[in-house]
Amino acid sequence: MAISPALLQELEEKRKTLYLAGGADKLAERKKKGLMSARERLDAFFDAGTFMEFGLHVQHDCQNFGLAGKPMPADGVITGVGYVEGRPVAAYAQDFTVGGGSLGSKHAQKICNLMEYAMKAGMPFVGVNDSGGARIQEGDEALSGYGKIFFRNVLASGVIPQITVIAGPCAGGAAYSPALTDFIIMTKKNAQMFICGPEVIKAATGQTVTMDEIGSAAAHAAISGNIHFVAEDEKHALQIATKLLSFLPSNNVMDPPHKPAATVTLDRDIEMNELVPEDAKAPLDVTKVISRLVDNGDFLEVQKDFAKNIVICFARIQGISVGIIANQPAHKAGTLDIDASDKAARFIRFCNVFNLPIVNLVDVPGFLPGVVQERGGIIRHGAKMLFAYASATVPKITVIMRKAYGGAYLAMCPVDMGADAVYAWPTAEIAVMGAEGAVKVLFKREITSAADPSAKEKELTAEYRKKFCAPYEAASRGFITDVIEPAQTRGIVAMMLRNTLSKRETRPPKKHGNIPL
Ligand code: HXC
Repeated sequence: MAISPALLQELEEKRKTLYLAGGADKLAERKKKGLMSARERLDAFFDAGTFMEFGLHVQHDCQNFGLAGKPMPADGVITGVGYVEGRPVAAYAQDFTVGGGSLGSKHAQKICNLMEYAMKAGMPFVGVNDSGGARIQEGDEALSGYGKIFFRNVLASGVIPQITVIAGPCAGGAAYSPALTDFIIMTKKNAQMFICGPEVIKAATGQTVTMDEIGSAAAHAAISGNIHFVAEDEKHALQIATKLLSFLPSNNVMDPPHKPAATVTLDRDIEMNELVPEDAKAPLDVTKVISRLVDNGDFLEVQKDFAKNIVICFARIQGISVGIIANQPAHKAGTLDIDASDKAARFIRFCNVFNLPIVNLVDVPGFLPGVVQERGGIIRHGAKMLFAYASATVPKITVIMRKAYGGAYLAMCPVDMGADAVYAWPTAEIAVMGAEGAVKVLFKREITSAADPSAKEKELTAEYRKKFCAPYEAASRGFITDVIEPAQTRGIVAMMLRNTLSKRETRPPKKHGNIPL
């Protein structure tokens, strides 16, 4: 006895028809535009031959506006599970050739079912969006579908990593599912994301604006801060997703994929000493420090084009997967402003929820002064960093490279904000404010009454800097674990990371804290 060949043929034919999606013409049209089909996208993402599809045969049951009986293969979204570098990941790709990838109730149900499976099984969830939005014919059923997805995005937040690739239109409320996920990767070509498009803006406000100005990857990466990575094309977007996943655990109860060597190397890296400019005021490009600190100079920078005064990235330090938060003195002198605070705070919370140790590199002169900042709520935004660091129970290691002044010092995770170890370079200056400012406040009379006020001010500043800002002052009061040579940083941070990986810290039980939003 064997299964009838007719049944196998029927299965084969059904699959063939469904794989044709919106039809050979539509697939060819996409190819001509240089775009991959939804299936090609998932094939490019998953390890060869590992993709298992869920719900290929699902069909809509909408009877409205010409949809009755109209075939919609897979209801316009391919869903399933495959392996990415050997680890299981759940993913969907919206199929623009089927009803413009529009979302109806079955399409939404497939995404929700997959999300629920990913949460149960504890695997990351990746979505490739390319859709005309709510399927107009399905009306409130389509809206309800979005609601169900948003709800599950929130349930999954902090349980499994969620990544969205925007590789086509993503309009109106549809943009809120990506916004609820952890990371958004957007392609330069063919992708737009917006709540109200140029025509609606024109009608409502009279303002003329182009789609590029409000909805392109470039605009979201540099101005709105809505997205985290810009990709050249969809293939590149999926490569970024793969790289991102390589640093992350599959879920919140697993450790990240650390790859520690048998022993920690404490070798000095002399070139690190050379990176520090002799002149304390000369800017230091912190990405050069990060390159030397991490394995093979390899780090994945997140939101590279947004709030450049702070750098956030994933990397490995002697095999330990970490999140790094670093002031960037080469941009706005490394000050913390509204956007930098938002950027860093969300990253800290991501690292904490997925068990990634945090390494902080500090060279911060303070919060950015200005009316725009004060009126924009820098107090509320800056407080996010304090809240995020204090709430984080993962290993937290801080290296004070140079300036660490005032409230910004506290916002960069010193020992009082829960750092497990704080190292300072001999070039570190820890104070309420810079020596120049402090001397002006404290010695106004001495300076103005001196024979040569400018020389007096210089002399007092040098004396003040030496006496009150040097790291040995803070170290003598127990605020610094040790003062180290820059060359020792990689070895010491690596050793401290290893030592602290087993850290267990609890917080008072509560529903959740109330982070200033
Ligand atoms: C049903 C849709 C659709 C939609 C596109 N199609 N969008 N069908 N509902 N929302 C269909 C088209 O009828 C067409 O069908 C096929 O998809 C391809 O669309 P084209 O217009 O031919 O493609 P293109 O010229 O590339 O333009 C793509 C587009 C445009 C820019 C996305 O289709 C468009 O503007 N669509 C409407 C977008 C929109 O306003 N959506 C609602 C957003 S608000 P055929 O059969 O001819 O191939 C929203 C609210 C969510 O989503 C709320 C959540 C809370």
